[in-house]
Amino acid sequence: MADAGRHPNIKLYTMSEVVDVKGYVGNFTVTIQKKARYVDENECTSCGDCAKVCPVVRPDEFNVGLSSRKAIYRPFPQAVPAAFLINSAECLGYNPAVCSKCVEACQKKCINFHMSDQQITEQVGTIVVATGLDAYNPTEMDEYGYTRFENMLTSLEFERLVNSGGPSKGDLMRPTDKRTPRSIGFIQCVGSRSMKKGGKYCSNVCCMNTVKSTLVLKEHYPDIDIKVFYIDMRAFGKGFEDLYMRSRRLGVNYVRGLPGSVQENPDKSLHIVVENGATGKIENYDLDMMVLAVGVKPSEDSRKLQEMLGLQLTPDGFYLEAHPKLLPVDAATRGIFFAGCAEGPKDIKDSVTQASAAAGRAVRLMHKGEISSEPITSVINAEQCKACGRCVEVCPYNAITVDTKKKTPAVVTTAACAGCGTCAAECPFGAISMNHYTDGQIIGQIDAMLGANPQDKVLVFACNWCSYAGADFAGVSRVQYPPNVRLIRTMCSGRVDEKFVWRGFEKGAKVILVSGCHIGDCHYINANHWTEKRVEKMHKKMEKLGLRTERLQLAWVSAAEGIRFADVMHQMEKLRQGVTTGEVEETIKALRK
Ligand code: FES
Repeated sequence: MADAGRHPNIKLYTMSEVVDVKGYVGNFTVTIQKKARYVDENECTSCGDCAKVCPVVRPDEFNVGLSSRKAIYRPFPQAVPAAFLINSAECLGYNPAVCSKCVEACQKKCINFHMSDQQITEQVGTIVVATGLDAYNPTEMDEYGYTRFENMLTSLEFERLVNSGGPSKGDLMRPTDKRTPRSIGFIQCVGSRSMKKGGKYCSNVCCMNTVKSTLVLKEHYPDIDIKVFYIDMRAFGKGFEDLYMRSRRLGVNYVRGLPGSVQENPDKSLHIVVENGATGKIENYDLDMMVLAVGVKPSEDSRKLQEMLGLQLTPDGFYLEAHPKLLPVDAATRGIFFAGCAEGPKDIKDSVTQASAAAGRAVRLMHKGEISSEPITSVINAEQCKACGRCVEVCPYNAITVDTKKKTPAVVTTAACAGCGTCAAECPFGAISMNHYTDGQIIGQIDAMLGANPQDKVLVFACNWCSYAGADFAGVSRVQYPPNVRLIRTMCSGRVDEKFVWRGFEKGAKVILVSGCHIGDCHYINANHWTEKRVEKMHKKMEKLGLRTERLQLAWVSAAEGIRFADVMHQMEKLRQGVTTGEVEETIKALRK
């Protein structure tokens, strides 16, 4: 942190919040709200004279409320810049002069109540999102009595308690009587791997954090009795298994099972009832103190940034990478990268590795000074464009701008366009065409495929990244599917225009399938949401025309689902066999009306 603060090429904005991001790769404009510190950070020497006289006492967030701080304070000892700040919401005030004791105490005269929040604009080429994590708050898990029992701590509180810079200067003490506990228990997976409370995912760091805590405790208090209650211990990192085994050798008792209930004894120790999964027996323990190994959850602010940057979130709320294996630090939006727990729970080593990778990816992109992009971007026909704004609404990359009031034609920022084709499929005036995937080219393919014996064919639109790759996978895996399937590849299922489907039916297709990536996996952020809506709309139109909606199917098939692809094709073939020639003729008549 100190190195980052000193580096000539790094501008560090502390007490700041990103309030807006506009633009695209190479040309992002970031608006930052920098809050007033009320202390000149260049002059402050961190002597602390101001804090000594400040009458306001508040819980210290850095020590998770286990100690207190003043309204003028330094957030934590290693904070950069090494200067104090005033929390204006807590300060008794300077103007009108209610207190101003800190102003009088500061010999360097660096307190200035006339400072105000600033709005700063920065132009950047790439963005690394490193929004970190929040710890799970176990108050909802009433069975562990975190809110009722003073000697029940979270792992974060315990960490501060045994830290030499913490409130007790590293001495382990029970909160109720300040004496060193003789026994201590850790409960694992609090808020992790749970279908009811917290996250369903493994928080990745809690097992090894507990193992580390047991080693620290055994080093300082060799006679302490330690019990760890767990579902299973996950020690998969380099050297982690050794640490775990060392902890066991030192006498830490690992009990497989999570406590069913915790009660407080009259001496404030805690009574645990647990079913030991290894022995199948109900066991009872009395422990002086307990620690809840709380899981991690995405940072609360990640949603705000997700909207600003057009990013995708996983169902757990972490940012979704463009590809889990090939682009693990890239966002789907070009020029944006992830580092650390923004993308998923990870430990320090993995966070540093990912941050280095993200920095490397960003430098690689920027050092050339120019970028090349695939020529499959959208093109607006200015004469046909009525500036309705529909394309702007559906574009997952904010790559299109239009002034709907002035009615000037829409403009595509080619560098930001990824070529999903959703805008072209949604444009009500047919004013957008996709380079290399034009309407004419796709209709040409439909006509060619259904040129002879159309009623014998199953027409399939498959997105390049999942369904088409799924078909490929079925092929290389030698999985059989009906030979009368005819595939048309589009970059995304979002490109499948209504008119392609009507053309297929008009040409005599009995059944048509639109297929793409599973919801949440679309290569173009959320373009397949529009596919889903469009197919629903087409079903309604089919109902009005008296056509059976089963004849138009939508299926999500991933690149790894070769067997599923074949299954879907067999289902389509079965459906095709259920459609009569008379039905096809009726359809053609209805569509030509
Ligand atoms: Fe497959 Fe969008 S890329 S549905």
